[in-house]
Amino acid sequence: MTQTYKEQYRPQFHFSPEEKWMNDPNGMVFFNDEYHLLYQYHPFGTTWGPMHWGHAVSKDLIHWEHLPIALYPDEIGAIFSGSAVVDWKNTTGFFEKDQPGLVAIYTSAGTYPDSDRPLQQQSLAYSKDNGRTWVKFKGNPVLSDVNITDYRDPKVFWHEETNKWVMVLATGQTITIYTSYNLKEWEFASEFGHTAGSHDGVWECPDLFKLPVVGGQEKWVMIVSIGDNGQSAEGSRTQYFIGQFDGSTFVNDHDDSTILWLDFGRDNYAGVSWSDIQDGRRIYLGWMSNWRYANQVPTEAWRSAMTLPRELSLATTEAGIRLFQIPVAEVSKIRKGTESYQKISVETGNGVSIPLAHSLMEITIEFEKESSSQFGLIIRHSEEEKTVIGYNAVEEKLFVDRTQSGEHSFSTSFAAVQEAPLKLEDQRLKLQLFLDTSSIEVFANNGEAAITSLIFPSETGQELILFSNEGTTNMLELNVTELDSIWSK
Ligand code: FRU
Repeated sequence: MTQTYKEQYRPQFHFSPEEKWMNDPNGMVFFNDEYHLLYQYHPFGTTWGPMHWGHAVSKDLIHWEHLPIALYPDEIGAIFSGSAVVDWKNTTGFFEKDQPGLVAIYTSAGTYPDSDRPLQQQSLAYSKDNGRTWVKFKGNPVLSDVNITDYRDPKVFWHEETNKWVMVLATGQTITIYTSYNLKEWEFASEFGHTAGSHDGVWECPDLFKLPVVGGQEKWVMIVSIGDNGQSAEGSRTQYFIGQFDGSTFVNDHDDSTILWLDFGRDNYAGVSWSDIQDGRRIYLGWMSNWRYANQVPTEAWRSAMTLPRELSLATTEAGIRLFQIPVAEVSKIRKGTESYQKISVETGNGVSIPLAHSLMEITIEFEKESSSQFGLIIRHSEEEKTVIGYNAVEEKLFVDRTQSGEHSFSTSFAAVQEAPLKLEDQRLKLQLFLDTSSIEVFANNGEAAITSLIFPSETGQELILFSNEGTTNMLELNVTELDSIWSK
């Protein structure tokens, strides 16, 4: 038996379950100094199966403590994705006076009585002891619609201005908005998205929240994950919309044909944000996999990990207001020593090798393009393998090439070049990379573009190579910081 968290490919600073299958993050809420992370969990296998909610808590979003399974399937179904909130005002009546508690709002995924036809309905469970035990509401389900097959993933928040709870729910290929005074009775408010954005697959796992735009105004952001349709190269992925919300209707700022992708890598799905964080931050976390091959990735004791938690913001770019994301400041907790390099001119054909002493790393690097058509860095480099992170200056695209990154035989969709459109500013490109045993997360120009990608290299590699094609690029500054495992203590 391999020791838990020492297995090949086991993420060392990303959350993964101790064992067995995990998918979407669920019920993320901050309460009494703890960040709760619940998740779609199949405790009896390493492939998707009857869903439970697994549970972990953290004081710092980085180190996690595993807790027992929070919710088990029951007579109305398995426990599909959903959210959790603090019922500060005891609108539900579940709690004692002045002792607010947690309410989970999730999808009961069952079937019609006497038939195999799927039936998805929304249910509640509550906890009076900081999420350590959960009681299902006797009146479940609280919301049903017999006419819609895909009717799931409620994300609920308190809308201050109208004094109501708001639920965004994935309904086929739209998002339906409901409101409630007590989380138990829900009223239809509006439906968004018939013609907007990407309709490449079923819509899942919505989120809706307000964010300030750097420089003044406020906007609402709606996040929508899109299921794998089996055809597109990308598999499952996540889009977002920016607009206005008045407590009942979301109005998209963009025309219907605009599609905004949250992440340009293949492995960031079903992500939503934490509820009830009090310090003003909007923190997001995604499932670091893809339905195209999630059930086949080459890990044994467990399957899947989450992305790093990321702080979201809105800023204005040449193309308009866009969502930016950077890893939360708390990653500093796992930073160890840094080695720095300055000013290296990289010429065509002459890759510059930088020795690497560690396998878990954060790399920050800034390039200044001179005449190159393409430049970047190669990591996880060994005789047979490499992962290339580069910038194509002709097409103005950042890319992560994992075609030779290691094991990929489990899916023909895995070996791929992942690209994000990105303009250079003053010919400069700033990258922040997080390299775990089986993943890489790339954030460009302070979070303007993100590429999240699984990789399964057989070796960690002992060098980083800077390259430039068809001209020169200056590497202005490189910092390689060793990162600690979160499971070591
Ligand atoms: C998204 C999803 C959700 C659903 C859950 C089931 O990955 O398909 O829509 O609630 O996974 O595990």
